[in-house]
Amino acid sequence: MAVRRVLRLGHPLLREVARPLAAAQIGSEAMRCLVADMVDTLHDYGGIGLAAPQVGESLRLAIIEIAGGPTRYGELAPMPLTVFVNPVIEVLDQATVGYWEGCLSVPGLRGFVERPQHVRVRYLSDRGEPRSLELRGFPATVFQHEFDHLDGRLYVDGLADPRLLVFDEEYERYHRTAPAAR
Ligand code: NI
Repeated sequence: MAVRRVLRLGHPLLREVARPLAAAQIGSEAMRCLVADMVDTLHDYGGIGLAAPQVGESLRLAIIEIAGGPTRYGELAPMPLTVFVNPVIEVLDQATVGYWEGCLSVPGLRGFVERPQHVRVRYLSDRGEPRSLELRGFPATVFQHEFDHLDGRLYVDGLADPRLLVFDEEYERYHRTAPAAR
């Protein structure tokens, strides 16, 4: 398996609506190879999640792995590496909270994005079994960010304020301890 190059903001494929996986593709050798490459890529680049379009495959497939533990967003429950096939997200509460988001396809930058904080995700496992998860708080933001990639959206499209897009270094220096007040 292999680390793949992550496509960056500006690559047209990141703006495409990805195709659902057909039943015959789910659990196939080709899908398992793609997932293995995505895991290697996520671990090599570092990050919480990766969507197939980010490695050049226009398919509705994403992986998420949350280390868990104490963070500046509170104590996060760990989520072992999980594969999401054809996920559908449903907002259960429209009330939003903002976080500074980053993306492997937008290296070096962070942006403040407000999103609903209570969602349900229905998806198929890597073996095609139907699953459902309910998420609150920061994980709800993570899932919306990842699955936006499957619809050709990037977090920069949803900035709470266009001025709240900053480089990592300036984020650490000026914004980390003074979160954007909204
Ligand atoms: Ni991303």
